[in-house]
Amino acid sequence: MELESLVRRAETQVFEAPDLDSLAEIERGLVGKKGELTQLKKTLGSLAPDERRAAGQSLNDALGQVVEAVQVRRKTLATAAEVAQLQSERLDLTEVMSNERRGHLHLVTQARDRLEDVFVGMGFTVAEGPEVETAWYNFEALNIPEWHPARGTFDTIFVDLGEPEEVMMRAHTSPVQIRTMENQKPPIYIVAPGRTFRTDTADATHLPAFNQIEGLVIDRGIGLGDLAGTIDSFVKAFFGHDVKTRLRPSYFPFTEPSAEFDISTPSGDWLELGGCGVVHPAVLQNCGIDPEEWQGFAFGFGIDRLAVMRYQLDDIRELVNNDVRFLSQF
Ligand code: FA5
Repeated sequence: MELESLVRRAETQVFEAPDLDSLAEIERGLVGKKGELTQLKKTLGSLAPDERRAAGQSLNDALGQVVEAVQVRRKTLATAAEVAQLQSERLDLTEVMSNERRGHLHLVTQARDRLEDVFVGMGFTVAEGPEVETAWYNFEALNIPEWHPARGTFDTIFVDLGEPEEVMMRAHTSPVQIRTMENQKPPIYIVAPGRTFRTDTADATHLPAFNQIEGLVIDRGIGLGDLAGTIDSFVKAFFGHDVKTRLRPSYFPFTEPSAEFDISTPSGDWLELGGCGVVHPAVLQNCGIDPEEWQGFAFGFGIDRLAVMRYQLDDIRELVNNDVRFLSQF
């Protein structure tokens, strides 16, 4: 009777064991070397031989029951522990993450980065110059002396620093040609993107602060054909192989001959992209380069107008209105 209630209590303990460690402890307390049931075996010796057999049998049954209960509980707890571990290490590949709100670079920056990539791919390096320039870099070294009518066409914004009309916001990126030739020996292959400023009133095709990219190549035996080929390769890399280019005679004091270059539009028209030409010998001389040995070409065009064409905008001012609802479409 005593043994029966001991077994029931033992089973309750075993089935209530919360985890494998506590189960092992309970097991030790019952059937381990010094366990309750093991200890009972020692009392058998004090019994009469005929009683001893029956008592021994009951005790063995009791031990068997407890050992079986422990095994069952151990299996249950082990399965539960395995499930818990799997749950904690579970990686749900179908989980849907909430969409991050991510912006993108401004259209002009995208166009500028792309231009740099195309020209770097063609072997050019990227040069830079300041946005505030002196008359030497903006005009004189570019073969535009003070009396030259071209000074008027640049609609320069002067800055009130030093001598009147000596310091200005650069009206084009061409000053970077001079800065590069002053500091670098030929051969030279550079592009120089950057901000430029004119007194132009903003309208559908003009901004007072806009961006240009200048190109300059100085090497031996360079001519107009190299210029035309470079422009054509660049336009095809930037806009695609269906787009054609053409050069139209024009005038710039720092190139001779000079041209405007146009690209074909899907509607069959031509669109002006920028100016270009063979570098004028006087410009090379101004930078200490011998025009007998070195020749070259230069080009400059508007990055904002290029972005307008690429993204088919109706009005260049959309680029600076900074309406995020508009710009985020691209
Ligand atoms: C020049 O600025 C010359 N420096 C280009 C050049 C470089 C010629 C090297 C020869 C050799 P132009 O003033 O045409 O040229 O301007 C070049 C381009 O800048 C224009 O074709 C146009 O794309 C862009 N541009 C000019 N003014 C504006 C403006 N107000 N807003 C936006 N883009 C403009």
